[in-house]
Parts: sequence; C-alpha cells; structure tokens
Amino acid sequence: MANILISLLLTTLSIHLIASVGAVYDIVDFGAKSDGQTDSANALLSAWNAACQSTSPATIYVPNGKFLVGHVTFMGPCANNKINVQTYGTFVAPSNYANFGSAGEWIVFDKVVGLSVYGGTFDGSGSGLWACKASGGSCPDGTTSMTFRNSKDVLISGLTSLNSELYHIVIDNCDGVTVQSVKISAPGNSPNTDGIHVQGSNGVTVTGASIQTGDDCVSIGPGTTNLWIELVSCGPGHGISIGSLGKGYNERGVQNVTVKTTVFTGTENGLRIKTWGRPSDTFVQGVVFEHAVMQNVQNPIIIDQNYCPDNKDCPDQSSGVRISQVTYTDIHGSSASKVAVKFDCSPTNPCSGIELQNIKLTYSGAQPAEASCTHAGGTTAGFIIPRSCL
Ligand SMILES: *[C@@H]1O[C@H](CO)[C@@H](O)[C@H](O)[C@H]1NC(C)=O
Repeated sequence: MANILISLLLTTLSIHLIASVGAVYDIVDFGAKSDGQTDSANALLSAWNAACQSTSPATIYVPNGKFLVGHVTFMGPCANNKINVQTYGTFVAPSNYANFGSAGEWIVFDKVVGLSVYGGTFDGSGSGLWACKASGGSCPDGTTSMTFRNSKDVLISGLTSLNSELYHIVIDNCDGVTVQSVKISAPGNSPNTDGIHVQGSNGVTVTGASIQTGDDCVSIGPGTTNLWIELVSCGPGHGISIGSLGKGYNERGVQNVTVKTTVFTGTENGLRIKTWGRPSDTFVQGVVFEHAVMQNVQNPIIIDQNYCPDNKDCPDQSSGVRISQVTYTDIHGSSASKVAVKFDCSPTNPCSGIELQNIKLTYSGAQPAEASCTHAGGTTAGFIIPRSCL
C-alpha cells in the first residue's frame, strides 16, 4: 500500500505545468548573472517591477544556471493579476548567514493577486547556520526561504526547496493558494526547518509534496481555515502538525482541515495536534485525517495539549484551546513506540467528538501497541487496533 502511494506521489511530482503568458521578462536581460557568485537581487527586482507594472499578463523568466540572491521582496499590488515566475535554474542564498541581514526572510511575495511560481530550485544554504546552532554559540534565528504574504490566487508548482536556514515555505495571511508537486529537502537534524507552514490563511491546498526535513513537514498555525492536504510523503521530519496553538490568549482558531493520503517514514510524529498548556480563548474544529500509512513513526496519532517547553511560562498548566470534531479514518502501519495513539487533552477543555474508524497500528516491541486517553471523548467504528480508550 505504501509503495502504491509513493509511486502515485512521484507521478504527481513529475507533472509540471509550465505556462508562458503575455510579455516575457528574462532576468538575464535585467543584468542577472548565472555564475552563482554575483548577487542578482537587483536584476530580479527590476524584472519584477517591469512585470508588476505591466497592464497585461506577464512572465518572469529565469533560465538555467545558478543565481546568487540575497533578500528580495516582490511587492504588489500589481497592475495585472496574472504574473508567472517561471524558473529553470537555481537560486542560491548567500552561504554566510551573516550576509542575510536581520530580515529573517529570503524571498518574499507580498500583496500579489494572481501569481504563479513554476519550477526552479531554491537553495537556502542553511548548513552554516545549523552548524552554528549545533555548536551552541550565539547565532541568529535564521531566514525563512520563501514567504507568500497578504496574497490571493497563488499557484506554487513543481519547485524544489533545499536546505533552508529556517522554514522552507510560509503561507501567511493569504486567500486561495495551491501548492502542487513540490519537493522539500533538508537533513533530519537541521533545526526548525519546517517544510510548509500555513497561518492566517483561507483556502490553501497542498497536493503532491515530498518533504524530508528536520522539523514539521507541514505546520498549521492560528487562523487557518479550509485547508486541504493530499498526497504528501513525510520523513525524516516531525510529521504534519496543527499547532503549536494557544500560546497567546486571543488567537484565531483553526477550522476545516483535511489531511488525506499521506505516508510517514521514520518521523517523530504522524498526525499531531499540539497546544500550549496555557490559558487561551481559541479552538480547533473540524479536522479529517484519512488514509495515512505510518512506517516506524514515534507518535503516529497524537493530541498534545500540554506543550510547555522547559516548563516555563505556562501559569496553570491547562490549555484553553477547545478541540472538537476530529476524525481519523484508515490509519495504519507501524509505531516506533508502545503508545501508538495518544490523546492528552486539556483538563479544563476536554477534547470532544473524536472519531476513530478502521485504525490498525502495530508495535514491534515485546508488548502490543496501546492507546492512551486523558480528557478525551468520542466514538469509534470499524476495527480499532490498538483498542480504543475513548
Ligand atoms: C472545507 O474546506 C474545503 C477545502 O479544503 C472546502 O471544499 C469545503 O467546502 C469546506 N467545508 C466547509 C463546510 O466549509
């Protein structure tokens, strides 16, 4: 089954929709150098300004070659609502993290309506910063590779994101974003290198993604509504995670999330919901997890409402986040720990409406797999292995 899913996924990944529309702006004509050494940020910005000011559809063309670029923000609003960025080459970030400055972001699209980003490789050159962090010295937080902010009707297709210093792709405060056939890769021990992070956004769809990284494959932050995730392979990584939520008191909730047809290989978590053990007035409502394969996953199914790193800043150790209507259907495979299903909910706001259907998770240790429930209520249907504790 896992193999079928993975080959399905790879088929999806090989589909690249490349569309060249309207006037074409080749970044080389604007002075970009494909030598991997000359900073091409200004050339890129000039090409962007031309495309953005065009009153008809425009394509920014990035040919083969290696283009060094520092921090760039592609700012809208634009005079047209059909801008394509079509990349055949590779963008590389400065290898010395000190050259990134303090922006915390590498490539940013802001306030753009009608944007398609096709193809290309985006190499965040993160290894220097990870080494600094590993040595325990004082290092900057790092730089997110690609950020899509305050934008609408966005397509991100067929691109590869490598070795980000921090998050690879962030979708923040957007409406209508499709991410398809992307590959994300960073070492399993690279810190905070989340694959795709969505927050404050409505109508985001992620289909066909292969994610290997050192933190969450997909992380879902406050204010995410109508999110669809399908055909994702994850590992190494920390799984697909709703949260951490409820760090602040007045956070926007998460509503209507579907995570379908996923494969987790050797990950820390599979399907996770995680909230701070702090007072908060927010919620997670309406989540469907279906058709997941777990291969040697530490915590295949987990709700953790007691997140409190270093036991600091969690005044009464009880999460205010209300979690309801969470369905798990057809989740099977192997757990790397004995507790394969764990619902550790808030004593003041118990999880309600959890539904389990056709679950089969095994543990290869001496004892069989177990389920553990604290303050969690719901129903089951079909076969449930390990036996439900709801
Ligand atoms: C939930 O979100 C999906 C898209 O992910 C959408 O198609 C569906 O209509 C939404 N459901 C509700 C009840 O809003």
